[in-house]
Amino acid sequence: MLNWDEFHEDDTPVADKPAKAAPAPAPAAKAPAADAVGESLGSYRAAESDRLARARKSLEELDVAAGLEELEMGAARIEVDDKQMINARADLNQLVPFKYEWAWQKYLDGSANHWMPQEVNMNADIALWKSQDGLTADERRIVERSLGYFSTADSLVANNLVLALYRLITNPECRQYLLRQAFEEAIHTHAYQYCVESLGMDEGEVFNMYREVPSVAAKSAWSLKHTQSLARPDFQTGTPETDQELLRNLVAFYCVTEGIFFYCGFSQILSMGRRNKMTGVAEQFQYILRDESMHLNFGVDMINQIKIENPHLWTPEFQDEVTQMILEGTELEIAYARDTMPRGVLGMNAAIMEEYLHFICNRRLAQIGLKEQFPGAQNPFPWMSEIIDLRKEKNFFETRVTEYQVGGALSWD
Ligand SMILES: [Fe+2]
Ligand SMILES: [Fe+2]
Repeated sequence: MLNWDEFHEDDTPVADKPAKAAPAPAPAAKAPAADAVGESLGSYRAAESDRLARARKSLEELDVAAGLEELEMGAARIEVDDKQMINARADLNQLVPFKYEWAWQKYLDGSANHWMPQEVNMNADIALWKSQDGLTADERRIVERSLGYFSTADSLVANNLVLALYRLITNPECRQYLLRQAFEEAIHTHAYQYCVESLGMDEGEVFNMYREVPSVAAKSAWSLKHTQSLARPDFQTGTPETDQELLRNLVAFYCVTEGIFFYCGFSQILSMGRRNKMTGVAEQFQYILRDESMHLNFGVDMINQIKIENPHLWTPEFQDEVTQMILEGTELEIAYARDTMPRGVLGMNAAIMEEYLHFICNRRLAQIGLKEQFPGAQNPFPWMSEIIDLRKEKNFFETRVTEYQVGGALSWD
């Protein structure tokens, strides 16, 4: 191992180095004007040495996160077979050679779909929202509840990514996508804030809904419950129990939070847009839904890859537990549907939404190899699948992507 000080002071080529590096020459020997610099550097180092020693000790005690280890000079180069989703020993600062092409492809696809909330014209929404009879009370309730849930939900997802999950996924191409996803979650939170601000809604009421409105709070609390153990600084994977805890987190956030909790609100707002109401908000939600469907598919791919590499984790008992988690999430979303739609609205009602959520629940279970729990459930909203499928939409991202490439920061004229 070579530590930071040796890296700067030792100019000996690696190939010529003795097994144990000799003490490095003082900096003064290297440059004529270095006396004063060396003296000031020396006193700086003396003053900082205690702090650095304490910092190093605490890092050692923590067994630093994978990717932050000291450099191992001259170590063998990475082979694809060294790479793993979790508990990998391979250097995590080297993106290539790729092992999981699907992760890199999703990073490229996500980047190609870049968008920003300010690009969406909100004028028609503002006029409709402020008019006395533009929307029914039930339609207003849906807009308020949706922005109330989503304005904080995407922050929960982003915080789970960067504070709990990221360090435990020990693969550089997956981390590359996680970084892209984290930025997309920031854009989504921005989009909800932009809608709230454009419509002149009460920000305090909207952003506090996740702890003031029971049907919204129940979903947020359920997600938070599944991030807390991983977010503890001393949490490490490497045992069957902790590896399963990581899988619970992936199921809770990708399959349930992003894969079920978003679907009642998304379908309600998009149904509104299809009726030519709140079209700016609906357009924002449409872009977000496209991103979210890719997040979900990425999470499913991660879960399935971890299962392939660690079949001992996927026990019958654990499969039952995960099935129950997905059923719990479905029930919470059905309760949210009932709360947001006390009557029929927008060609929907709570019973139709329940059938849709049973269909979605079946999909989530099947995607990770579990048995469907609602045999025969049908999709009453086939138009949702069309909106999710990027390829079926005309003139959507084509112009935007071109604009970014021509007018964005990549122009060197
Ligand atoms: Fe999001
Ligand atoms: Fe997401």
